Amino acid sequence: MNKNPIGIFDSGVGGLTVWKHIHQLLPNEKLIYLADSLHCPYGAKSAEEIIELSRANTRFLLNKGCKLIVVACNTATASAIETLRAEFSVPFVGMEPAVKPAAQNTNTGKIGILATKGTFEGRLFKETSQKYAQGIDTLIQIGEGLVELVENNEMDSEKGRKLLVSYINPMIDAGVDQIVLGCTHYPFFIPLLKQLVPKSIQIIDPAPAIALRTKNILLELGTQSSLTTVLPEFYSTGDTKVIDLLVTKITGKSYPATKIDLT
Ligand code: DGL
Repeated sequence: MNKNPIGIFDSGVGGLTVWKHIHQLLPNEKLIYLADSLHCPYGAKSAEEIIELSRANTRFLLNKGCKLIVVACNTATASAIETLRAEFSVPFVGMEPAVKPAAQNTNTGKIGILATKGTFEGRLFKETSQKYAQGIDTLIQIGEGLVELVENNEMDSEKGRKLLVSYINPMIDAGVDQIVLGCTHYPFFIPLLKQLVPKSIQIIDPAPAIALRTKNILLELGTQSSLTTVLPEFYSTGDTKVIDLLVTKITGKSYPATKIDLT
């Protein structure tokens, strides 16, 4: 039993797609979310830069007393999770593209993965693909420009539709039956994706599995909380307008984010 909060960070608002599932599965846990929107996107930054930013995000959450940290960002996980685990004693939950379930579910033997450059270049993605997707035709696509659209709350824009079509159509034409969303910003496009992708293709968002993993770690460590009144907290290093809008869209309530400076 431990009433301390769970910390969740992302390069920006994308990790809210993970926050939502953790909030649903663990309603008695206090959640502190940090969006590093000032430095978003992380996708094309060097591993060194991402490690430095991830350290700063972690320190902020630890100062808030967090008992566990969810790195709700595939890109930060790819570059920084090993360093974070080595340097901080708190447990970390990371994200990686859901190659394993996609490879297990496919009937056509072809899967598509949409993620950032940083995620595809990370060791984790290469190792997971080698381990679980041997003999599976894996089509990878960098989702250039998609993160920026989400950060500006332009998920329903014509620009978004055009970009998605250009990324997804080659996968559809190649015969994939699984499309993995390997960046936590991308599930915000699911309503649009459902219009663009045939029903026979499954869109995989790993967030529910991450929420379950978080729950299991708390249970294993005996650090789950049973708080009955929990107010979530949101922080951003950038403009708070979009995070406030998206939180209200997800929760139906208003929890205004606090702007912070981590430099
Ligand atoms: N949400 C991050 C991820 O899951 C965002 C990437 C970025 O900032 O480029 O990879």
